[in-house]
Amino acid sequence: MIVTIRPLEENDAYTSVKWRNDPEVFKYTGNTYNHVITIDSELEWIRKVINNPNDYRCAILADGVYVGNIYLTDINDGNANYHIFIGDKSYWGKGIAKSASKLIIDYGFNELDLKCIYLRVKRPNSSAIHLYQSLGFQEIQTDEEWIKMMIEYNANGSMN
Ligand SMILES: CC(C)(COP(=O)(O)OP(=O)(O)OC[C@H]1O[C@@H](n2cnc3c(N)ncnc32)[C@H](O)[C@@H]1OP(=O)(O)O)[C@@H](O)C(=O)NCCC(=O)NCCS
Repeated sequence: MIVTIRPLEENDAYTSVKWRNDPEVFKYTGNTYNHVITIDSELEWIRKVINNPNDYRCAILADGVYVGNIYLTDINDGNANYHIFIGDKSYWGKGIAKSASKLIIDYGFNELDLKCIYLRVKRPNSSAIHLYQSLGFQEIQTDEEWIKMMIEYNANGSMN
């Protein structure tokens, strides 16, 4: 399977709106929606975020099929926050998140000149924690609900 990423486009909303309304996908993320997301609100959201110069918001494609979203947000002073979801659950567990993450981390370090990328993950989200550890993220802070992790630019360019 060939995994690529590209900047989000307005028309992606027609696919991503279906994922927004799947509680399993957003169970452990920062966004737990307790109302139905309409196509109008998804279009409004996508128009807003793709015009934000401090965000790099991408679609994940598996063999050309749009399957999820991956972002670097709050890009500022060499730092950014990373987020991911694979919205189409039939694509979970196939290594797609790992490949897409390597692409965006590489872009962040080499094209955006980031020094540090941060994320936060809920403690019970074991598949995400496993993914982040395998990418080289290290735990820097925890509380009852969240684990905060980071990965630093490595001049050798090595990532696991
Ligand atoms: C978390 C998520 C992004 C993982 O995506 P994925 O494409 O299934 O992950 P991958 O197939 O690339 O797997 C990456 C690693 O995690 C492991 N993994 C995947 N699913 C796992 C699971 N259910 N339990 C344990 N490990 C798991 C894989 O074995 C792989 O490890 P490896 O490199 O050592 O072999 C996906 O499940 C998802 O979108 N979940 C809902 C949204 C979400 O929680 N996002 C994160 C918010 S912080």
